[in-house]
Formats: sequence, C-alpha cells, structure tokens
Amino acid sequence: DATVDVDLSKIAPGQQIVVVWRGKPVFVVHRTPKALLGLQDTNLTDRLRDWASRERQQPDYVVNWHRSIAPEYGVMVGICTHLGCVPGYVPNPSATDPVANWPGGYACPCHGSKFDLAGRVFQGAPAQYNLPVPPYSMPTRSSLRIG
Ligand code: FES
Repeated sequence: DATVDVDLSKIAPGQQIVVVWRGKPVFVVHRTPKALLGLQDTNLTDRLRDWASRERQQPDYVVNWHRSIAPEYGVMVGICTHLGCVPGYVPNPSATDPVANWPGGYACPCHGSKFDLAGRVFQGAPAQYNLPVPPYSMPTRSSLRIG
C-alpha cells in the first residue's frame, strides 16, 4: 500500500516496532526522555560520521536534532546504508560493547555499523550515511501516516 498508519499509543516508551512500507522495514521507536537527552549530547558530534545528513535521505521537516516531527518518536527506514542489512534494536548496549561510548540505538549484524536512536551513524562503521527517514505525517499526536 502507498501509506501505512501506525497507532503510537501501542508503543510504550523505550519500545520500537517495525512496519513494512513499500516492501521496506520501517522502525518506529518511542524514545524516552533519557534517550532524548542523549541525542542532544554535543560531545557526540565528533563521533557522528554523517552529522549533517549529507545524503539528505530525509524530508526537510525532519532536519533537526531528533530527525523527526515529534522528538519522542523516531521513524527510520531500517536498511543499513552500507550494504542493506536490517540493523537490530539495541537501546541499552552493554558496557563491553566495542564501540566505546556508543549510547545505543541500532546495530547492524553484518559488518558492525552502529546508529543511534535518531538513525545517525557513528564513526568506525562501514556505513557512511544515516538511516533514511521516510516521508510521513502525524494526523494526530498519537498516530503516524507513513508515505
Ligand atoms: Fe550494515 Fe554492512 S550492511 S554494516
């Protein structure tokens, strides 16, 4: 279908769901207040490979620090920008994670690229670009329409 509707009231803080839009997985994540603070950590800027989203695979209305319409909801195409694997949701990485200070988000199982909860890729990963953000709108505070 051209559009997919998502009921955000069913996604608890800290949870994410995966919906299929145009044959692609789309991650919809409910970010916690702590996660939102983490995304604003300016100490991370140097560690983000694509801090300016050079490829701009995102609508203009998500050009902001949270890469979304509402800060608490992230919406990203779940296809690694390296070679196309589907990154796993890892909101709370273990202290032994090899990428020091990675705050968590998405980890690609194929070659280890790491993204945060806004889909921003970290240095040291083979992926060069942030996860794309699909076109979407929020008809209400608790619903998304993707496409
Ligand atoms: Fe994700 Fe290579 S496909 S790191």
